[in-house]
Amino acid sequence: MSIKVGVAGVGAIGAAVCRALIDGIDGFSLCAGADLAPDKARALIHRPDFDLPFVKLEEVADHADWIIEALPAAAVPDLTRTAMAKGRTLVLISSAALLIHPDLKDLAGQKDGRILVPSGALAGMDGINALAEQGILRAKLVTTKKPQAYSGAPYIVQEQIDLDAIGSARTIFSGHARDAAAAFPANVNVAATLTLASRLSPEDVQVEVRADPALTANCHEVTVEGRYSTLHFKLENLPDPANPKSSTLAALSMIAALRRHSAGFWVG
Ligand SMILES: NC(=O)c1ccc[n+]([C@@H]2O[C@H](COP(=O)([O-])OP(=O)(O)OC[C@H]3O[C@@H](n4cnc5c(N)ncnc54)[C@H](O)[C@@H]3O)[C@@H](O)[C@H]2O)c1
Repeated sequence: MSIKVGVAGVGAIGAAVCRALIDGIDGFSLCAGADLAPDKARALIHRPDFDLPFVKLEEVADHADWIIEALPAAAVPDLTRTAMAKGRTLVLISSAALLIHPDLKDLAGQKDGRILVPSGALAGMDGINALAEQGILRAKLVTTKKPQAYSGAPYIVQEQIDLDAIGSARTIFSGHARDAAAAFPANVNVAATLTLASRLSPEDVQVEVRADPALTANCHEVTVEGRYSTLHFKLENLPDPANPKSSTLAALSMIAALRRHSAGFWVG
C-alpha cells in the first residue's frame, strides 16, 4: 500500500513536489494539498487531468501519513505541532523555522512523529553528517544574492536598508545562525540546515549575508572544519522561475528525499 502524501503550501516548491508525485514516485501517492490560493496552486501544478483535493492547512495531517511542508516559515510551527501530535512524518523545507522555534525539533520522536529536513538549496549534507559524528569545530556560510532577493526581510525593514541603492557587492549582515534566521527567514534556510546538520549550537555557526547586483545565481559558500577534514564548497543556484527567492534545487531535494525512502539502492 502506498504512503499518502499531503502537500502543505503549493507554491514554487510544493507545486514541483506535487508534479513529481503525480508523475510517479514509487511507494507514495498524492492525496491532498493545502494553500491559501488553491486556484493559483492548481495552475502552478499544471496537471489539469489530476484533480487534487485542497483541504485546510490544519486538516492535512488528518488525510496524509507524510506531509510535505513548503510554507512561509511563520506557518510552520502550527503545522509541525499538528503533524507531530498525530505521529506523522513531516518533510520540512523551511528549516529556518526550527532555529526560530527550537522547541519544534523536540517534538520529533514523540508519538512516532518524524521531522525530516532535506538538503534544500544546500548540498554536501553527507559529508557534514559524517564529520558531525566526530564533532565539527567550525562552520561558516556566506550567502550572496541579488539585492532584491532580500526585499521584505525583517532585517532589511528594521535597518531601513535601501536595496535599490546597492550598486556593488557588499555585506549586509554578519552574525550567527540564530540571528540570521530571524533576520532573513526566507533567505537563509541554508544556514539553518547547515547548523542542524553540523550539530553545533546556532550561536557557533557564522553567517555572512551579501548583496551583489551583478549576480545571476544565488551563491552559498560553505566551510566546515572537522578534526581531520575541512569541507569547502560553493553552490550557484539559479533562482526558481516560480519564485526568485527560492531555488529549483530545494524542490528537487524534496523529491529526491521521497525517492530515496523506497529505493533498494542509494548512494550518499
Ligand atoms: N531549505 C532550503 O534550502 C530552502 C530553499 C528555498 C526555499 N525554502 C523555503 O521553502 C518555503 C517554500 O518556498 P516556496 O518558494 O515554495 O514559496 P512560495 O511563496 O512559492 O510558496 C508558499 C505557498 O504557501 C502558501 N501559503 C502561505 N501561507 C499559507 C497558510 N497559512 N496556509 C496554507 N498555505 C499558505 C502560499 O499561498 C504559497 O502558495 C519557504 O519558507 C522558503 O523560505 C527553503
